[in-house]
Amino acid sequence: MNVEKIRNDFPLIKQGFIYFDSAASSQKPKIVIDKIKEIYESYYSNVHRGVYRISAKITEEYESAREKIARFINAKSQEVIFTRNATEGLNLVSYILSDHIEEGDEIVITISEHHSNLVPWQQLSIKKGAILKYIDVYNDGRLNLEYLENTITERTKVLAIGHVSNITGIIHPIEKIIKFARNFEHIYIVVDACQSVPHIKVDVKKLDCDFLAFSAHKMLGPTGIGILYAKEELLEKLPPFLYGGDMIDTVELYETKFNRIPYKYEAGTPNFVDAIAFGYAVDYINEIGMENIYNHEKKLLDYFLSKMLYLDFVELYGPKDSKDRICVVPFNVKSLHPHDTASFLDYKNICVRSGHHCAQPLLKRMKVGNSVRASLYLYNTTEEIDIFIDALKEIYKYL
Ligand code: ALA
Repeated sequence: MNVEKIRNDFPLIKQGFIYFDSAASSQKPKIVIDKIKEIYESYYSNVHRGVYRISAKITEEYESAREKIARFINAKSQEVIFTRNATEGLNLVSYILSDHIEEGDEIVITISEHHSNLVPWQQLSIKKGAILKYIDVYNDGRLNLEYLENTITERTKVLAIGHVSNITGIIHPIEKIIKFARNFEHIYIVVDACQSVPHIKVDVKKLDCDFLAFSAHKMLGPTGIGILYAKEELLEKLPPFLYGGDMIDTVELYETKFNRIPYKYEAGTPNFVDAIAFGYAVDYINEIGMENIYNHEKKLLDYFLSKMLYLDFVELYGPKDSKDRICVVPFNVKSLHPHDTASFLDYKNICVRSGHHCAQPLLKRMKVGNSVRASLYLYNTTEEIDIFIDALKEIYKYL
């Protein structure tokens, strides 16, 4: 993997920013940016609605993006729904499953969830009188599966699990949990794959999940576009989410026949420009290769941890090793507020996120108030980590 060549493809990286905030949103390669510009300037028109040539071209490219993304996760294209982002996908699932949840039913999630895979289930539980149960973690954030038999039971209707933690970068053993859950009928299995699809190979058929959601903006694509994968037979039988144009086949005064899937779940004019550009991001990733990306990140994480562990003025959270992790490193400079650390790093053109990272229950469980988080991706280097470590040493000198 030629990292120098890759860095050259990212305009913001070329400007000299040390961008360590890819878990929040990744940078975009020029081909993605250029594609958006090209569509708006050269053949912009609505999708699925015109017979004229430029509209037909848009429709063809939109559907081709869907096919590429479907192949990327080993799904059929009719199982791939374009959404606004992963959060919308997860809310969509909680909405269309709501008729199946009754008082006393159980919904199982983990304490490690991002708010987008926690709040929808929490609110659905409150509304339906269902019991929300949590799979716990150990102090370092790895899932504690010792009590799985007591947590997932005959009464469980939904299991919704995050694949990779946005705080610790831990790749959770969700295959094992899903396998156990499949011992029970009537469990819908939902995966929040927001932090996994950009970094590791995800195969929905191998995972055997019913639903899986992720966002384009964390994997080199534009903002405002995401994917919800769902098994074909479920999309056929479950109700629509939004009603309106494009999701219909025929409309009479008092009844409507819905469109075939996936269009049944795509009401209104979709964000087709960004969907097409997302397809270009997937092409770019495929060209580099998921395995190469993962190996590069592992090398970065090993290097990063080896440096951080030597800094006695830094408190490092999460596991101290790189086993089953992507390159996400949560920490604090002792006795310094994380926002102050992040602001200081900003003066050095280093971008990191600080705060609760939209996963407050996990931070509380790990007894961490707020933290700084450095999250790296395919365009980062060990040289940047060296500059980062020197910047932290400088902060400590001023303390
Ligand atoms: N989910 C994103 C993050 O972890 C926004 O920062």
